[in-house]
Amino acid sequence: MTIINNTKPKEEVKLTNEELMHWYIEHIELFLSDYIKDDDKDTKRLSEAMRYSLLAGGKRIRPVLALDFYKIASGGLDCSHRVMSYAMAVELIHTYSLIHDDLPCMDDDDLRRGLPTNHTVFGEATALLAGDALLTEAFTLLADTATGRPHESEATVKAITYLSKCAGYRGMCGGQELDLKFETAVEPPSEETILKMYGKKTSDLLSAACAIGCIAAKRYDLVDEAAAFGKNLGLAFQITDDILDVVGDEQKLGKPIGSDEENDKYTYLKAVGIEKAKEMAAFYLEEAKRSIARFNNNEFLYWLCDKILERDH
Ligand code: IPE
Ligand code: IPE
Ligand code: MG
Ligand code: MG
Ligand code: MG
Repeated sequence: MTIINNTKPKEEVKLTNEELMHWYIEHIELFLSDYIKDDDKDTKRLSEAMRYSLLAGGKRIRPVLALDFYKIASGGLDCSHRVMSYAMAVELIHTYSLIHDDLPCMDDDDLRRGLPTNHTVFGEATALLAGDALLTEAFTLLADTATGRPHESEATVKAITYLSKCAGYRGMCGGQELDLKFETAVEPPSEETILKMYGKKTSDLLSAACAIGCIAAKRYDLVDEAAAFGKNLGLAFQITDDILDVVGDEQKLGKPIGSDEENDKYTYLKAVGIEKAKEMAAFYLEEAKRSIARFNNNEFLYWLCDKILERDH
């Protein structure tokens, strides 16, 4: 099915969950494909490094969540440039976080999204800058949602505030700091402390993705429930990621197996064992579903939760 030319399909077209996923992914890939330009030939290596990681694929879960929460909150599908900008800002930040996460000073990994990691291709300094530039560009993209549209300013500012808090020291960066700190901890962190770390390093950006869709639709009243969905989904997502690091297939996963063990990471899996970890991933996905039980048209998100539990990449 190719529906890429329409940014709004006719209301009467009822898409299956798979078709809707396909619709979102097509628009996301199209948007990203020519987003980073080589404006200045002298800095082409930096733009190439940004594009390299951005276009390497990835599941695009965060922008898909943003677009679907927009759909739920506004009552209609919309992949216009304005709405896409909110969703893509989150993917730019996510991609930066992966480039930095793979650096030798962090997880020191050499495979990401099925390709050699950014620093192994472009060198550490350019990889660092590519991450910095993707992070900065995310806020250019968001700020531009109000350019020439003063009536959009409130939503734009709310989105910038929400996303920057989730990505910064209170959120994802704080979680990454805890993750690194636990590598050398004398006392193993408690289950609760590990989940707090996951809440920051993984859930906060997923919560921002869900919340930003509601913000873009100016349904500020839905933000808390959307964020609660993201929080629970994030816990399940990170627990599953840790399980795949042990039992996954490197080819399918597109990143190395055994990285956590090699880096002495304190994962939830290490604390409770694989059976309980699987149980808890399922538990948090049910919690995620409960967070949005009162939303209309939530079948796609329920379907996505089930996919996350079954995933092999
Ligand atoms: C990887 O995220 C980092 C974690 C939070 C576990 P994804 O598994 O969403 O990575 P991509 O975007 O599909 O590559
Ligand atoms: C990283 O968690 C989460 C981020 C904020 C990037 P991991 O270190 O487990 O992610 P992967 O396994 O490298 O994708
Ligand atoms: Mg890491
Ligand atoms: Mg890592
Ligand atoms: Mg991992």
